Amino acid sequence: MKVAQSLKIGNVVVKNRLFLSPMVDVTDLAYRLLCRKQGAGMAYTEMIYVDAILHENARTKSLMKTCKKDSPLGLQVTGNSVREFQKFAKLDELHNYDLVDINCGCPSIRITGNQAGSYLLRNPGKIGEMIRILKDAGHTTTAKIRLGYKKNNALAVAKEVERAGADLLTVHARMANQGSSVAADWKWIAKIKKEIGMSVIGNGDVFSGKDVEKALDVCDGVMIARGAIRNPFIFREILRYFKTGKEKEIGRMERISAFKEYLNLAKKHDVIDMGRIKYLGSAFMKGFPGAGKIRAELMQKRDDGRINEFLSSLK
Ligand SMILES: Cc1cc2nc3c(=O)[nH]c(=O)nc-3n(C[C@H](O)[C@H](O)[C@H](O)COP(=O)(O)O)c2cc1C
Repeated sequence: MKVAQSLKIGNVVVKNRLFLSPMVDVTDLAYRLLCRKQGAGMAYTEMIYVDAILHENARTKSLMKTCKKDSPLGLQVTGNSVREFQKFAKLDELHNYDLVDINCGCPSIRITGNQAGSYLLRNPGKIGEMIRILKDAGHTTTAKIRLGYKKNNALAVAKEVERAGADLLTVHARMANQGSSVAADWKWIAKIKKEIGMSVIGNGDVFSGKDVEKALDVCDGVMIARGAIRNPFIFREILRYFKTGKEKEIGRMERISAFKEYLNLAKKHDVIDMGRIKYLGSAFMKGFPGAGKIRAELMQKRDDGRINEFLSSLK
């Protein structure tokens, strides 16, 4: 049963083949802990600019927070400057993470406008240089790519990532200019896996155990993003699917108590962010009768204490 088999990334051991995607405004320490409890084998911080880490402010510090149970953990970064990567690679803080993942896939104009994220795909040699710098400094290093910026050059990028000595490649099977309404093209994940020797994690449109079953025929593991926002239980249910052939619908009370758990973890680890709490609350409170009313009430609350009181009042 491949899904439950461990996977080695350099010296890092991941207990199964289910990876929680790095997600801006979602995968803070509390969310990662929640998903790990449900069975996610691997998780990442959200993407952080190397430059922001070098000039660390309070927000960046909060995004970089981790703890003992939050392992294995990848610090996901992006940037445009090889020189900054040289400084970054020497930071002591990097030893708080099991690996560094280079984001070469973010399509947001704020990021590509700075020649980072998916813009890096235009220059595979630069990605290779960044990987070499991190590897030379002794860090387990991975890269997450899309199929291309404006033209598909995924094979060339994948080969360069491997040549540079990276420990794993994640492929989000869309071009940078394709939104989630375009289906991820898993043919390319299969093609890349055939062409390179390193482990490949496939990403794009994985929402169920069946999707994972198909994915594991062509690559070494799956990374899940939107499926986990709607439903942090997805990891548990996928593992259940591989054991029993079935997945369970997640009911109202289980969703409410998971959201309460998120709030408690956010408070405990001091990563409370009201914008994020409301976004995640709306995502959790879906798919059961009366969910719309709960979402509307949540939006009115001014702090996490009031949200907690409100959630506790729900029977
Ligand atoms: C809200 C949100 C935030 C995201 N932030 C990041 C990020 O910080 N780093 C990254 O590599 N990808 C990011 N992504 C992309 C996802 O990691 C993933 O590649 C993409 O959503 C496809 O996977 P899915 O079909 O499972 O959603 C983000 C996606 C979403 C929906």
